[in-house]
Formats: sequence, structure tokens, C-alpha cells
Amino acid sequence: MTIRVSIAGATGYSGSELAAILARHPSAEVVGAFSGGSSAGAPFASLHPSLRGVPGPVVAPFSIDAILATKPDVVFLATPNELSAEAVPALLAGGTTVIDLSGSFRLRDASLYPVKYGFEHPAPALLGEAVYGLTEWCNGSLAGAKLVANPGCYPTSILLATRPLRPLLAEGTTIVCDAKSGVSGAGKRAEAEYSFTELAGNFKAYGVGTHRHEPEIAAWLEHGEPNVIFVPHLLPVPRGILSTIYLNFEEETTAEDVAWLFASAYADAPFVHVHPAGRLPSLKDVVGTPRCEIGFTLLAGGRSAVVVSVIDNLLKGAASQAVQNFNRAFGLGETEGLA
Ligand SMILES: NC(=O)c1ccc[n+]([C@@H]2O[C@H](COP(=O)([O-])OP(=O)(O)OC[C@H]3O[C@@H](n4cnc5c(N)ncnc54)[C@H](OP(=O)(O)O)[C@@H]3O)[C@@H](O)[C@H]2O)c1
Repeated sequence: MTIRVSIAGATGYSGSELAAILARHPSAEVVGAFSGGSSAGAPFASLHPSLRGVPGPVVAPFSIDAILATKPDVVFLATPNELSAEAVPALLAGGTTVIDLSGSFRLRDASLYPVKYGFEHPAPALLGEAVYGLTEWCNGSLAGAKLVANPGCYPTSILLATRPLRPLLAEGTTIVCDAKSGVSGAGKRAEAEYSFTELAGNFKAYGVGTHRHEPEIAAWLEHGEPNVIFVPHLLPVPRGILSTIYLNFEEETTAEDVAWLFASAYADAPFVHVHPAGRLPSLKDVVGTPRCEIGFTLLAGGRSAVVVSVIDNLLKGAASQAVQNFNRAFGLGETEGLA
């Protein structure tokens, strides 16, 4: 079976990783690559260093008609939020499956979009239909899905580390998520605050109390109405996210209890690796890979835990998770094209 794939936003950081994975995917044929227009006419092989000499479509300016003209079975949208929100209904009406890497279909509550994303949602009825594609937690609903909302990079790292431990959490507890992202998390940007001279040798928190990933984390924890404090930081490295999560438990807990919950959650998860108690992963464990690695240490006699979770924001936080979701949606093996 060969599945026809088009990539919108193929010249961006996430889209170029998608191009690199999908060009070698044994069940996919990349039939379209689209950008905002600045790179129109660029050869496919220019999208990513690993594509040198690999054939593929020339980059074309983004339009719904041009994408549908490639007769795609699936379109990956690695485009800005508002563009994805507008494009998805038209692409679905054109009969294609959509895997959207933006935040446009991750929240169920349409009233959050003007506040967190700065626009009225143009298709609120679709918010309830999108499968939130945290692959390890939605395998059942991915088969045949027509619209997948690929999770945010910070939420991916935090939810994979926290969801298995929900049975242990103290009533009414506050979950503190202290997360650091490499600069590619902001996409290709020309603003001065993202320039080398501003970032190199510096480290800062940003978006505290306002970041759009906070409601996404709280909603998809699916644990009552959790009190989440999310503090993102801009780390002066190109890629990678390290999240440190502080949890308080209802009762004294042992390392064996925690390890058992993680092992039960991820027994069949090829891209989640949980370390033994006390071994905490670092960015170098995952950058350039489709994995999430998780470690934990118990504190306060087992009443608290620090959990550390690392991913590559452009892979497990974006492109490789999107391909996991593609594989599941089309009935392929989860690791196809990724292992
Ligand atoms: N970066 C991450 O770590 C990450 C992780 C998870 C999810 N995401 C999400 O994935 C999406 C892409 O992020 P990114 O970081 O890869 O962004 P990026 O590097 O800024 O790339 C954006 C892509 O969208 C295209 N584009 C921009 N404006 C457009 C327009 N008006 N019409 C058509 N195409 C347009 C750009 O084309 P040009 O090259 O012509 O400008 C480029 O191909 C975003 O929604 C982001 O929130 C990003």
C-alpha cells in the first residue's frame, strides 16, 4: 500500500523533519510540498540535509486547491495556527485526512482560542471531532481518524511523564511543570529577541501564566480540574525539551509503585523509555530521536516525586509523533518509517 502524502509548511523546522521522515517511509509517497511562497521552486532535496539526492516534489506556494490537486490521502499541516484553523475544514471537505501540527484543534473549548491564540476559531464544531494525538494514549481512536490534532511539544513531554501517575496524586494538588525548550521550538523567526547575540549565553523564563500550552496540559491530563503551574524557559540550544515536574502524592509511595505504573502505561510503547528510579535523562539521550525518556526520584519519604522528561521538540514533540499518528490512522505498524 502506498499512501499519498502532502506536506504544508515543508520549509519550516517541523515540516522539514516531516519531509525527511516521510521521504523514506516505506508506505508513503510525498506528492506535494508547500510553503508560504518564499521558497517556491526550491528542490525537495533542499528541505533537509538527509534528503540530498532524494527525489520529491518541488516546493510550491501554499493553496488549498494546489494541495488537493496532488490528490493526497493525507495532508500534514506544519503551518501557523490560524492558517491551519482555516485550512482544515477545506481539506476535510476535499476528502483528505489531516494531521495538524499546529495548536488549532488541540483544545475542545473554542472560547480559549481568542485568549490564547488571538483568533476566533473558524470551525468550532470540528474541535470535538479531532483526535488529540498523544499517540501512546489514543491508539484506539486513531484508527481511521480523519483529523488528528498533534500535541504541542511541551504538553507531549509533560503529559507522557504525568498521566501514568494520576492514581497517586494528592486531592486538589498543584502540579508544577518547569520546562525548558531549545530555540527551534519558536520556529524560524527573524525577530531580534531570537537572534544569536540575544540568546547565546543567556537563559530566561517566559509566558508564565499566559502560555497557550498551559490549558492544553490541564485539559489533556484528564484528571478533574488540575491546578497546573507551567513555567516555560528558553534554553540556548537548537533543539530539545527537558521538563521537570513536581508531584505530591496522597500517600507514601515506593519507587516500585511508580515504576509499576510507568511500566503498565508504556509496556507497548516503542518510543517511551522510563529509566530506573534515580536515573534522570538529559537532552543528549533524545535529540535526533523519536523517543521520550522519563526518569524519577522520590522525595519526602515517598510523598513527593520529581519527574524529568526529555524529548526532541521537532521529533516526538512534532514530526515523528505526527508520523506515529499517521501510521496508526492508516493501520500501519507504529514504528514504520521511524525505527
Ligand atoms: N517548532 C516546534 O518545536 C514545534 C513543535 C510542535 C508543533 N509546532 C507547530 O508546528 C507548526 C509549524 O511550526 P514550525 O516551528 O515548524 O514553524 P516554522 O519553522 O516557522 O515554519 C512555518 C512553515 O509554515 C509556512 N508558512 C508560514 N506562513 C505561511 C502562510 N501564510 N501560508 C502558507 N505557509 C506559511 C512557512 O513557509 P515559508 O518558509 O515560506 O515561510 C514554513 O514552511 C506551528 O503551528 C507550530 O506551532 C512546532
